[in-house]
Amino acid sequence: MRILFLTHSFNSLAQRLFCELSQIGHEISIEFDIADSVSEEAVRLFRPDLILAPFLKRAIPASIWSRHRCLVVHPGVPGDRGPSALDWAIQKDLPTWGVTVLQAEAEMDAGPVWASAEFPMRRAKKSSIYRNEVTEAAVRAVLAAVDRCQQPDFKPQRMAGQAHSTLRQADRTIDWASQGSAAVLARINAADGFPGVADLLFGQPCHLFDVWPEAVLRGAPGSLIARRETAICRATQDGAVWIGHVKRQGGIKLPATQAFPEAAELPEVPLAGYLKSAQPTWQDISYEAAGGVGFLSFEFYNGAMSSGQCRRLTEAFNWAAAQPTRVIVLRGGSDFWSNGIHLNTIEAAASPADESWANINAIDDLAEAILRCETQLTVAAVGANSGAGGCFLARATDFVWVRDGVMLNPHYKNMGNLFGSEFWTYLLPPRVGEDGARAIMRHRLPMTAAESVRLGFYDACLPAPGFAVDVARRAAELAAAGDFSERVAAKQAKRRADEAIRPLADYRAAELHEMQRNFYGFDPSYHVARYHFVERSPHSWTPRHLAKHRDLNWIIPE
Ligand code: COA
Repeated sequence: MRILFLTHSFNSLAQRLFCELSQIGHEISIEFDIADSVSEEAVRLFRPDLILAPFLKRAIPASIWSRHRCLVVHPGVPGDRGPSALDWAIQKDLPTWGVTVLQAEAEMDAGPVWASAEFPMRRAKKSSIYRNEVTEAAVRAVLAAVDRCQQPDFKPQRMAGQAHSTLRQADRTIDWASQGSAAVLARINAADGFPGVADLLFGQPCHLFDVWPEAVLRGAPGSLIARRETAICRATQDGAVWIGHVKRQGGIKLPATQAFPEAAELPEVPLAGYLKSAQPTWQDISYEAAGGVGFLSFEFYNGAMSSGQCRRLTEAFNWAAAQPTRVIVLRGGSDFWSNGIHLNTIEAAASPADESWANINAIDDLAEAILRCETQLTVAAVGANSGAGGCFLARATDFVWVRDGVMLNPHYKNMGNLFGSEFWTYLLPPRVGEDGARAIMRHRLPMTAAESVRLGFYDACLPAPGFAVDVARRAAELAAAGDFSERVAAKQAKRRADEAIRPLADYRAAELHEMQRNFYGFDPSYHVARYHFVERSPHSWTPRHLAKHRDLNWIIPE
């Protein structure tokens, strides 16, 4: 079928559905929901058999749904209607939730149901549930719905239901004096990603995000009691929680201590070393070891890696390399492996150009430390989505194992034509060939885990269920293998041979020369793109590489 995606943005869910449907032979084109007239034009040009709305913030115009079959992906169970569906489910602590694919009609989310899928709820951030459980359920439901669209006898059923209202800030308010940590966690989790919970910190209005439990620290309910790296700890009625990110009024989302420099006055409670804390607390970099394998996790919010985080992770990696292990597994975070340099901290810096430069150098230092590690075999266990520099940082390891279902965006051009660094010019061509590398960089499209392995970019695509266990088993096998010493020797020899042909420093200097032009040159595209990205500016057009129907060679189908 020819399927037109009408969507607010090409977010990770839309990307995943795009890949899944393309893979089974459907032709997909995308139009961002900018204005009714623009959507109507897209429909005229593409003449879709079906319109799918994976992520919309407003209703489809009647001029479209009354003439074409439009299916909407609603992040709620059948019968659930209205906005803030997932927010309500998290805040109410419901045990199960789901995704429904329903037909657009005049009343929002009230149309006949084409398919649905359920999942058990996890106590986690809304953004995390969305990128994991909701995405997987949406894939199942959309594939079923699309299949049913091709069955002439299938009749979608109407479901009785009740509409709920938008979850307003008044419903989200935290009463720090009376609410315990569990309730505070549920409230901030239900608002994570967007819109956050409106509150006051240091007497200033702001929105709170990225909350973590704390098992030990205590204080007067509501008071700020500690800081650690970029997070601050606040006492609740029965304990305390950590707040990782904050958006001040009129500002952008930032690490809490960056948003509020006055946090420097709070008592610092560092963790001793990198070993994973036995008690729940805020720990962005943690290390565990078992069976000759060291596992390094970096739980960086949104997968963004600031200069400071890159430096601390490089130190942690070097420390891990000094441990008596044979394999180091870089696990990334639970929602993203890495999305490259931290565009928000860059935007907020006194000189975004200087901070971009510092950040790209810091992430390159990390990539270089991994590339130059001669004592262990290294593995990137990419269990979550990864984008831009994060995809190449993973490739700096000896083996990249990726979880099936992960979306990869191994290109930089979407961010104002960035050239990119992280040694991609060294790492990519030997894997996919010069032409393949150019195609990946130019196409700017997402890549599935399976495709990354098919192209030779990554090494293995492992089934989603049991990914962590599978990674641990494979890593332990690598560590215990009889040929471990030969493998390490071969790795050392390859590095020396490569260095003799062209030193790493040379690749790095050439990439950074281009990046310097992106950051300091006369073309401001990167700075403009970054501004719009961090401000979450609505799109004003759909890029040509997504809107096939706007391609100059596009012929309107009969
Ligand atoms: N720096 C700062 N924040 C980042 C980030 C980065 N490099 N990458 C993603 N984020 C944030 C987004 O701003 C968004 O914030 P929110 O909490 O306010 O919603 C959140 O992470 C999720 O991003 P979103 O774009 O909604 O997620 P997605 O899964 O749909 O898309 C990407 C993932 C990677 C395709 C997309 O986020 C992206 O293009 N990121 C920029 C990558 C980049 O250019 N890095 C710099 C060059 S190395």
